Amino acid sequence: MTTERSNQAQRKNVQRWIGLGAAAMMALAVAGCRQDMHNEPKFVPQRGTTFFADHRSARPQVAGTVARGQLDEDTYFYTGTVIGANGYREERDALPFPVTMTVLERGQERYNIYCTPCHSRVGNGLGAIVQRGYKTAANLNDDVHRAQPLSHYFYVMTHGFGAMPDYSAQITPADRWAIAAYIRALQLSQHANQADVPAGTTVSSLKSVAEAKGLPASFAEPWELPTTAISALPPVASEGTPSMAPAGAASPRIQIPHEAMPKGSATSKTSKPATPAGMAN
Ligand code: HEC
Repeated sequence: MTTERSNQAQRKNVQRWIGLGAAAMMALAVAGCRQDMHNEPKFVPQRGTTFFADHRSARPQVAGTVARGQLDEDTYFYTGTVIGANGYREERDALPFPVTMTVLERGQERYNIYCTPCHSRVGNGLGAIVQRGYKTAANLNDDVHRAQPLSHYFYVMTHGFGAMPDYSAQITPADRWAIAAYIRALQLSQHANQADVPAGTTVSSLKSVAEAKGLPASFAEPWELPTTAISALPPVASEGTPSMAPAGAASPRIQIPHEAMPKGSATSKTSKPATPAGMAN
């Protein structure tokens, strides 16, 4: 009995020594790498280095690096251009996906939000901002702009054009194409002829629509640019309908035949912006 107990005590003693020894080794090992961890070779952000020839510690991306999910350089959908026969990028008069009514409606909605401030709802370039002094925006219905390929509109929205800022941050590529498609519809709404519509449908000019509805001839005439000096203009209404065409009164700034809405649409006098009859709206 007694020998067994002293054997146990001895074993415990040995275990304790082994434990202490291990702890001491660990302490030595840690102390050994202490200096290495402190003086580890590294680049401090935004600080130069003599290691690279250009003295920049932050390295530029390897040419051709593509972030995950962003391989969008070379397709028509993202650039609006294709590489033509001569090796240069060219625009094309085509959408990268089939046009449907849903696409056109989306395009109309986006156009009305992003483009009308300058180009106006009918695309004549006399939007509200232009009324206030901005450079006259392009008339999308004139011969030059009607002759442009669809992807040119996409390109202009993506990169801007002259005084026009780009809209690549605000409008997704798919929506830019939808707007481009809608611009075509807008142009057609002002220039369609009988050959453009299915048999049994007739195309009427804005003038004849206005006459048939008993509207004044001015309804179908192009809008005028303001002649009044900007400083002489009344302040912009803070809410509700813009003050540019007060119901029943000729506006000093713009000749929108607003009071001439079709009979039976009394509310439209104050609640709708002027849009020529026959326009999709
Ligand atoms: C802030 C005003 C403004 C907005 C908003 C605006 N544009 Fe423009 N846009 C202009 C001006 C100004 C020009 C004429 C640029 C010039 O000649 O310097 C122009 C020109 C254009 C042109 C003609 C380019 C050419 O080759 O002649 C197209 C197409 C066009 N805009 C489409 C759009 C579309 C589509 C939108 C909506 C996404 C839009 N713009 C929004 C001001 C604007």
